[in-house]
Amino acid sequence: MSSEHLALARALHVCAIVMWIGGVAFVTTVLLPSVRRLKEPQQRVAFFEAIEGRFAWQARATTLLAGATGFYLTWVWDLWERFTNPQFWWMHAMVAIWLLFTVMLFVAEPLFLHRWFIERARREPERVFRRIERMHWLLLTLSVATVIGAVAGSHGGLN
Ligand code: HEM
Repeated sequence: MSSEHLALARALHVCAIVMWIGGVAFVTTVLLPSVRRLKEPQQRVAFFEAIEGRFAWQARATTLLAGATGFYLTWVWDLWERFTNPQFWWMHAMVAIWLLFTVMLFVAEPLFLHRWFIERARREPERVFRRIERMHWLLLTLSVATVIGAVAGSHGGLN
């Protein structure tokens, strides 16, 4: 396999992560606080979901690209052994974050989460919105820790 090929796969992997985790950071630190400030509790969840729906499509595409390039690099470089070594916790973290988002974006959201949020929000708007905010902070924190681990780890900074 030519090295340009792999450099491109790596560059696409990082681009996908920038778009995807950057979007999660924007939603968490800019969009959600603005919705809280601008909208009454009863309107917050529906308003947020309407805007975030557009990002969900971008997140689906970038999650697919990140997964495809990530597994491709793992396969070509034959890095599977790393998954048996706790020193490479950041490899596990990448796959775990990817799985978490894949299940949320491709299974939970379209099947029931969207409907569940809207329905619950009718009865307990404050509580549901707070839960959405907390969930985003948690996902963002785990994602940023993974990015730091992956860059430091893959450039030999953790040994
Ligand atoms: C199926 C999921 C994924 C797989 C199989 C995967 C695999 C890989 C591989 C093989 C590398 C190169 C490691 C090396 O050079 O030693 C890498 C780099 C990297 N990955 Fe992933 N990855 C996945 C998802 C993610 C996710 C979800 C994130 C972020 C939250 C992420 C962030 C990064 C970063 C920042 C790098 C380092 C790039 C660099 O500094 O050159 N990856 N990934």
